[in-house]
Amino acid sequence: MTQNSAAVDKKETVTLTDNSTGRTFELPLISGTVGPKVMDVRSFYGDTGYFTYDPGFTSTGSCESKITYIDGDEGVLLHRGYAIDDLAEHADFMEVSYLLLKGELPTSEQKKKFESDITRHTMVHEQINNFYRGFRRDAHPMAIMCGVVGALSAFYHDSLDIRDPHQRMIASYRLIAKIPTIAAWAYKYSIGQPFVYPKNELSYAENFLHMMFAVPCEEYKVNPVLASAMDKILILHADHEQNASTSTVRLAGSSGANPFACIAAGIASLWGPAHGGANEAVLNMLEQIGSKERIPEFIKRAKDKSDPFRLMGFGHRVYKNYDPRAKVMQRTCHEVLDELGVRDEPLLELAMELERIALEDPYFVEKKLYPNVDFYSGIIFRAMGIPTSMFTVLFAVARTVGWIAQWSEMIEDPAQKIGRPRQLYTGYTHRKFVPLHARG
Ligand code: CMC
Repeated sequence: MTQNSAAVDKKETVTLTDNSTGRTFELPLISGTVGPKVMDVRSFYGDTGYFTYDPGFTSTGSCESKITYIDGDEGVLLHRGYAIDDLAEHADFMEVSYLLLKGELPTSEQKKKFESDITRHTMVHEQINNFYRGFRRDAHPMAIMCGVVGALSAFYHDSLDIRDPHQRMIASYRLIAKIPTIAAWAYKYSIGQPFVYPKNELSYAENFLHMMFAVPCEEYKVNPVLASAMDKILILHADHEQNASTSTVRLAGSSGANPFACIAAGIASLWGPAHGGANEAVLNMLEQIGSKERIPEFIKRAKDKSDPFRLMGFGHRVYKNYDPRAKVMQRTCHEVLDELGVRDEPLLELAMELERIALEDPYFVEKKLYPNVDFYSGIIFRAMGIPTSMFTVLFAVARTVGWIAQWSEMIEDPAQKIGRPRQLYTGYTHRKFVPLHARG
């Protein structure tokens, strides 16, 4: 249980030889607390005149972080050193949020204060209501999320100065507190129901379900089993180190952009089907497959390089083993369906059969493609009555705290610089300009 700053090991280096000139270069190795060593290439260009080339950043560490650790081969996910299954089992989303933001699990006093600080910010500026009305009713809720969250910077001018720690904290609390309200309202707007205001005596997950499903004309009681499942789902999605959306938030923030704009950028990145959009895509895929008999046909398509179809909810850049979040998600799925009295949910049966067949198929075995967090979440959401287009929104609600924790860590890092990758240019070299009249 140790934590320290990354250490450059003076004795350990990697030597590279440039075969064209015979020159050699020594690159220092850096050790974290756990995980593979990292080759420090910060002075590489200055020393050698070469860039490194790594599209998709498959071998590149972009920052030092103390928040989340993943061992993809072993299927391990730790937040501040605590295993995800322990957190999902024993903590609630507010405790996990506190842990991600502040580095330690809260005491009961700290938790009470944190919850009260968050609930003080759950309402959104009343004029934001008008903002929704500018969207088409059939707008995808993720489009509304990008717009409304980005627009928060137009409403909360007193928390935009990123150099002021107090303003940073207020912006962070505002984002965590308001994101469920904004998300639930995106849904309410799409179905033409009145917006339901937050109720601060409810827990974070209960409040979200209440704003999603309550209507002014009757009492809505949140089902405690569903609220507990929602809380678990929020925990499972809370952070995942330097994934595409988190890296987007960090890159946007590295220029000094305000946190509301940065989180809106993260939401945009999350939307893609290769990332958070996969939970929506999984459900669409299961519906498209339709019956167990058709599974082999889709497995065949997933393996066919000339077919763009991929098994959604399968595979991960880092996990080459079962995603630990998918295991908890599968258990939660059964709990929710039991509570709702759903017996023999055809989509769950189809998903489990698809998983079984894929995990026995040499293609998936050799490429180490396992179910990821998105594989089962859609089935739970659907059982709860959440429409498919809201699935990725829920991911965004949960991930907001992770994005903020990572953004804050970056702003507080004295080594932080604007993110500015280089490129391998393969276009034209300098060409002589041809005036319009002379172009053939
Ligand atoms: N179905 C079929 N083949 C796959 C799949 C899949 N779902 N995922 C990867 N492969 C193959 C891929 O074709 C490639 O084969 P080859 O080496 O022969 O070219 C090999 O496995 C490696 O895949 P990759 O695309 O190079 O790996 P990546 O790390 O760039 O992509 C991924 C990771 C998650 C984008 C990809 O596995 C994928 O598209 N999965 C489906 C979408 C999905 O479920 N996304 C959610 C990810 S977890 C939650 C989140 O991050 O938001």
